[in-house]
Amino acid sequence: MSIQFYPENKIFKLDTNSTSYAIQINKYGYLLHLYYGAAVSDSELDYLAYTCPHGAHFPRVESETAENPFFSKDLHRMEYSCNGCGDFRGSALAIKRSGGTEDTDIQYVSHKIYAGKPKIEGQPATYADEEQATTLEILCRDNVSGAEVTLFYSVFENLGAMTRHAIIHNASNEVMEVKRALSACVDFHDASDMDFIHLYGGACKERLFERSPLIYGIQGVSSKRGYSSHMQNPFVALCSHDATEESGDAYGFNLVYTGNFVATAEMDSDSGARVLLGINPEGFTWRLEPDESFVTPEAVMVYSNEGLGGMSRIFHKLYRNNLCRGYWKTRKRPILINNWEATYFDFNEEKLYDIAKTASELGIEMLVMDDGWFGSRNNSHSGLGDWFVNEEKLKGGLGKLTERVNALGMKFGIWFEPEMVSKRSELISAHPEWVLQIPDRHKSISRHQYVLDMSRADVRDYLFECIKAVLDNANIAYIKWDFNRSLTEAGSALLGSERQQEVFHRYVLGLYELLERLLNAYPELLLEGCASGGGRFDPAWLYYAPQIWASDDSDAIERLDIQYGTSMCYPTSTVGAHVSACPNHQVGRTTPLQTRGNVALAGTFGYELDLTKLTDEEKEIVRKQCADYHKYFDVIHNGNLYRLISPWKDRTKCAWMYVSDDKREALVTYVVIRYRIFQRNYLRLAGLDPNKRYLNEQTGQILSGDTLMRAGMNIQEILKDYDSRVYHFIAVD
Ligand code: GLA
Repeated sequence: MSIQFYPENKIFKLDTNSTSYAIQINKYGYLLHLYYGAAVSDSELDYLAYTCPHGAHFPRVESETAENPFFSKDLHRMEYSCNGCGDFRGSALAIKRSGGTEDTDIQYVSHKIYAGKPKIEGQPATYADEEQATTLEILCRDNVSGAEVTLFYSVFENLGAMTRHAIIHNASNEVMEVKRALSACVDFHDASDMDFIHLYGGACKERLFERSPLIYGIQGVSSKRGYSSHMQNPFVALCSHDATEESGDAYGFNLVYTGNFVATAEMDSDSGARVLLGINPEGFTWRLEPDESFVTPEAVMVYSNEGLGGMSRIFHKLYRNNLCRGYWKTRKRPILINNWEATYFDFNEEKLYDIAKTASELGIEMLVMDDGWFGSRNNSHSGLGDWFVNEEKLKGGLGKLTERVNALGMKFGIWFEPEMVSKRSELISAHPEWVLQIPDRHKSISRHQYVLDMSRADVRDYLFECIKAVLDNANIAYIKWDFNRSLTEAGSALLGSERQQEVFHRYVLGLYELLERLLNAYPELLLEGCASGGGRFDPAWLYYAPQIWASDDSDAIERLDIQYGTSMCYPTSTVGAHVSACPNHQVGRTTPLQTRGNVALAGTFGYELDLTKLTDEEKEIVRKQCADYHKYFDVIHNGNLYRLISPWKDRTKCAWMYVSDDKREALVTYVVIRYRIFQRNYLRLAGLDPNKRYLNEQTGQILSGDTLMRAGMNIQEILKDYDSRVYHFIAVD
């Protein structure tokens, strides 16, 4: 078992092949955090709990004597911090009692250790069989309020990853209100040499990488937009100042949640730091009647002493193997052509068919019909909610178009934005009460649309039936599930005043339920997540959709930054990336078609332009790119990513590579962002077997792994702005 309990000193030790995590039940029954980091062999780690007794003004549990050593919740490393009883750092848990106070204080009651990993009912989470993971449940109780808290820890033994969540149960006879219930709390003893990493951004610039020294005080990211958001991602990392891509300590924290979240790092004056991650407590209260429970989302924690690259590779493996699921989990996904940037709203059956026909001749495998096929949808002002086909555009209906596309040997995919309703739509006239709203408050409008109240079962039933009607009447293999505005005035007509603060979370749970229902009914359906580009790129979505459109900025050079940041924790196999037209529609940049293809290959790969307008020469390039997708699929999608040159480094170039698990195959991509005169294109590789010799298929040169990694490659070509090269290496011995 990789989780042990040592009764002599009441220590839990949770080990993976590369990490250890330790918790102690102290003399007073409180859970202390002892250690998280690289694997350590000893279990007597209680000496780590010692903290120098400070002045009398720190609250302590009782006067210290020889038998009762110094213990202050504010100075010790706490495992799951509670509010109002002496720990003044951020709380993981705060429960308001019927008397109005928010004092919360939990102590150990019992525990269980078992092989495998439990499901989190109604929520997305990583999964594992009994060989892959071991779980520890620690039951704690607040003896005054009657709240019971079960802390769950699962370790993935061969991966260096662990997950956490908590269940808060009202075991009293009175109502209580959960004000904060975070998924993870980790107290670091010494964070003085650490950096804080997060992914910030906006629409068309999602998940940009930011690394800065951890400061005294609180640093953090959050969302209260109702979705995980473009602006901040529910991922943060702490790493040592000296951590590089391939060395140094790196701790990654990611929340499996697509709603309002918070992730903070709080460094105290002794340079200890507390990381907290979970549902954003702002605008959140969850009412618990006696015997009811609240379940937090899952937090994923990864540690690597192989730097940020090591951390990312663990996340990638975990998400590919133990989060993504279903029919498309490991299957090669079809190369798609999406008509959005080709036609926007201005299309009809013939236009789409012509694009599909050209696509089929080039090796593209699926046509995705984007926004505009339904209701009165000719621009973004109307139609959302009216999910019946617009027969003025598609004369013979969906059946005829899909049949024609299928006859070309292609699959057919379709766009939906189920959670929304247009201000001008039949649905809103029929059901104004289905919109999220607060009766006496003006409803903010955004992209001419409102948000449906996904906490309502009738709304979900309606949406399920609409989608079902479409899927049952035409051969549809794929849905792009879009979401194009934030939640505002988030009140629900069905809930009483005492439960309005639950709406954001109930919305998310409702969304999960609908997605689950859809996938149960159509297990072979391929879902692609989308939110005005990549506004909902989070692990929760990956549980339902094995690919997510990464950004509405499809420019290859902008995508370098976006895909670099995204790769911190999300695997390449999940990153929706397309080749689009030039000049690029978002930034006006002109880049070579080869480079657009090379960058999109580091993703799910597809096209988003009018293929009928390509020259013969361009068509030949597209044909070759499609062939390359198949040729390199395995190494890219199942291989290990090594980021070689960050696009941020000096803004002149960017490079990355994939290496197969057996290290017999590698694919290197090198892109010039800004050519500087006499620029040398020198590149040291990573992740190869130093003792193997590799044939570079493009140059014919054979060099050993150690030479390629230590002396490096020297690309002997003059490459100009936006040029790029891909090199395929095969082990020859
Ligand atoms: C969003 C998506 C785009 C496209 C449009 C359609 O912006 O991100 O890819 O589907 O909606 O309206």
